[in-house]
Amino acid sequence: MAICVLVWASVVGFLLFLLVRFARYSDGDFTLQWLEWRGKKPEEELFGKVVWITGASSGIGEEMAYQLAKIGSRLALSARRENELERVKKKCLEISQLSDKDILIVPLNLTHRSTHESATSTVLKYFGRIDVLVNNGGRGQFSLFVDTSVDVYNAIMKINYLGTISLTKPVLNHMIERKQGKVVTISSALGIMGAPLVTGYCASKHALMGFFNSLRPELTKYPEISVINICPGPVQSQIVQNAFTEDLSKKHITFGDQFRKMTTERCVRLTLVSLVNNLKEAWISDQPYLAAYYLWQYTPTWAWWLLNLLGPKQIQNFKSGVDANASFF
Ligand SMILES: NC(=O)c1ccc[n+]([C@@H]2O[C@H](COP(=O)([O-])OP(=O)(O)OC[C@H]3O[C@@H](n4cnc5c(N)ncnc54)[C@H](OP(=O)(O)O)[C@@H]3O)[C@@H](O)[C@H]2O)c1
Repeated sequence: MAICVLVWASVVGFLLFLLVRFARYSDGDFTLQWLEWRGKKPEEELFGKVVWITGASSGIGEEMAYQLAKIGSRLALSARRENELERVKKKCLEISQLSDKDILIVPLNLTHRSTHESATSTVLKYFGRIDVLVNNGGRGQFSLFVDTSVDVYNAIMKINYLGTISLTKPVLNHMIERKQGKVVTISSALGIMGAPLVTGYCASKHALMGFFNSLRPELTKYPEISVINICPGPVQSQIVQNAFTEDLSKKHITFGDQFRKMTTERCVRLTLVSLVNNLKEAWISDQPYLAAYYLWQYTPTWAWWLLNLLGPKQIQNFKSGVDANASFF
């Protein structure tokens, strides 16, 4: 009897320990956390690899350039602002052993789809191959649907969704020829869940998830090609400043503070762990958002209950000019 009680107490104690650990310290899904501990390391896998990053002029893409430069990957950096890419390249060279020829700047607008094939040829001519494409470039949105012009939905789909799949096409053709490569797409928690104020952004990220989850089984003949979807929660970057609002000409004005968001460094580190371990989908977020992914996936009724509770508060915060997510804390 005493042994039985002891065993039960140990099991309950262990489960409680896991729960507290999850609530306090977890910032990635269980598989990702395990792989960060026991899986392949980015430093061992990415040295010398050719990685093409879109949206490399700020935020997550910029930080990814720095971490990959330190590891010794060769980089193609893309975004619209060439001067910002030059700045990122300069810093990459300062903090790493790379030399000038290891980093190629390829100015690119995701909405100019007719240029994507020639941009791919430029990278291939220079490096001879592309090992990893990181589809990171994109824009956010903060506005209520009832106030928002349909032009905003058109614009956000053209950048986040159509621009991304347009660039993926020529790169994937090359990977299929080589029978190897990785296509990593920075989707979002909003590629899985819904939320108020981001209807267009959320739709574009859901579209990406649907696209890449359907592309993956088309590539089963090529086991060395991986399609990897990364779903970060809030991360420190310029995304709020650059977000679309109700109409294309209006800038977002309520930035909020960033200190409650995951650091860009941590998000990129976990993205690289997901990449080298070929995770099909990775959830990367601090709490309380990480718990929401699990609610959304496994207990949608509770997730809807919570969203109905917090959604009106988020809208109220937004309308009164404070950070919409202030209601989570
Ligand atoms: N930060 C977050 O909380 C968060 C969470 C989940 C997912 N994400 C995703 O992470 C990715 C990176 O965003 P971020 O947070 O790092 O934001 P960011 O700092 O605003 O960076 C966005 C990048 O995308 C580029 N970009 C924007 N429009 C473009 C266009 N038309 N063509 C080519 N490049 C374009 C920007 O460069 P140029 O302006 O120079 O073109 C910039 O380099 C996005 O896909 C975003 O949806 C972010």
